[in-house]
Amino acid sequence: MTTPRRFPDDFVWGSATAAYQIEGAADEDGRGPSIWDTFSRTPGKVLNGDTGDVADDHYHRWAEDVQHIRDLGLDAYRLSISWPRVQPGGTGEFNEAGIAFYSRLVDALREAGVKPVVTLYHWDLPQELEDAGGWTNRTTAYAFAEYARRMAEELGARVDTWTTLNEPWCSAYLGYASGVHAPGRTEGEGALRAVHHLNLAHGLAVKAIREVLGDDAKTSVTLNLHVVRPDTDSAEDADAVRKIDALANRAFLGPLLDSAYPDDLLADTAHVTDWSFVEDGDLAITRQPLDVLGVNYYSTARVRHFAGDGAPEQNDGHAESAATPWVGVTDVEFLEQPGPYTAMGWNIEPQGMTDLLLSLHATYPDQPLMVTENGAAFDDVVSPDGAVHDPERVAYLHDHVDAVGTAVDAGADVRGYFAWSLLDNFEWSYGYSKRFGIIRVDYDTLVRTWKDSAHWYRRLATTRTLPGVDEVSPPDGGTTVRHASRPVPHPHEGAGRAGTLSTRGSSSAGQSSGLIIRRSWVQAPPALLARAEARRPSRTR
Ligand code: FCB
Repeated sequence: MTTPRRFPDDFVWGSATAAYQIEGAADEDGRGPSIWDTFSRTPGKVLNGDTGDVADDHYHRWAEDVQHIRDLGLDAYRLSISWPRVQPGGTGEFNEAGIAFYSRLVDALREAGVKPVVTLYHWDLPQELEDAGGWTNRTTAYAFAEYARRMAEELGARVDTWTTLNEPWCSAYLGYASGVHAPGRTEGEGALRAVHHLNLAHGLAVKAIREVLGDDAKTSVTLNLHVVRPDTDSAEDADAVRKIDALANRAFLGPLLDSAYPDDLLADTAHVTDWSFVEDGDLAITRQPLDVLGVNYYSTARVRHFAGDGAPEQNDGHAESAATPWVGVTDVEFLEQPGPYTAMGWNIEPQGMTDLLLSLHATYPDQPLMVTENGAAFDDVVSPDGAVHDPERVAYLHDHVDAVGTAVDAGADVRGYFAWSLLDNFEWSYGYSKRFGIIRVDYDTLVRTWKDSAHWYRRLATTRTLPGVDEVSPPDGGTTVRHASRPVPHPHEGAGRAGTLSTRGSSSAGQSSGLIIRRSWVQAPPALLARAEARRPSRTR
């Protein structure tokens, strides 16, 4: 019998959610509209016409949700603040009622012994800012920093870790290039502008938080780095990987960790933009010391050089779109990958998690890492007795946590792991059709029910030892399976509206996926570091 894998006592176990996906109360207590309110209310943008109007009603049920978090034995909870709830127009007046909501939530978490990890931007930009250009407008970055400053003043040291942005890749490319996310624009150049203004917003916000709270404030950013593998060993396929790696990964890692945009990215996109929106001094701002780099990992991508006529295969895991998110790249195709798949159609590949963490560690050896999202959607079935047996999700979590452990054993400095998600919730353009929660939400009654995966995860968090996949029964002293909630009619259950969004089902690869991974980065980090070092002084834009 092998010894079960044990994690260090100070390894942080958590779970994550995002404001628009769970809160509901879209028009309450002075909240302003966000781009996701506008987008989801636009016919054809979200499956079944679902919106976040009610979502999990967390805005009213937060106390119960904190109790679940405590009962799960979690060390930390990753939440996001809805910018338009605390500052309805994105500039100017703040909304005291909105701030009070997060203040109460953070206090309740701390009273429960849970560290609040707070993301400032998980995609819900105030609509007024979008009306003025959104992330294509440089002033949005400065508005974001002022919002961050105010949150630091209000919530202060009660927040354990501040995360500026969640997955700026999605904000920029899905929001402004392929248009499958809010605000639904399809402008290649605009997406690259958005990339830069998000990077700038991050740097300005970290500086603002540190100005308020001092250098002890813990700061981070969360990236969905893509694990991109070549189809063959050919030079053309290696170049396809390089191009996607540049747009997906190094467009963020470069400015945030190396103070530079990669030369090859600038060259690849020169026919789209001259990047003159990068102003003198910006790259000194984008790079700020980060206590942890947040890593979201779900799956991998496989690419090859495309020389044919017509459209290349686009199995990149994102909702199908006429416009590509891969700005400026027309000669790369994303291939269907071998299964198994999750209900998102994303391939399941725990090895990608290990590769990603080790590759990052090899490239940035002094940068602590944190897995800020990992998890899976499956088509859950409620048993007659009300239980939800979700062995596929348990296996997914087990194998990916194990893969994190493998990376830790090999030297990666990984400080924690957050399961996506605490609750079933609004999965963006897929609406409520995809369930990622370890706790089920019944969308008719809003009752929360622990799935087997919640019991399994509780065991992991409380013993810090990887349980077997069959260890899903409530342990001694375990929590109740369900908590009663006030029934509320939910607009998206049984509405019977036909979905207009087309998705790729099982032929898709990873939406969020992960790194690179240029083999040379793994095998020869010193060479890479030397190259990065040599690049630094010469690149000031
Ligand atoms: C990530 C998002 C998160 C959720 C998961 C499934 O890209 O950050 O909100 O949608 O994917």
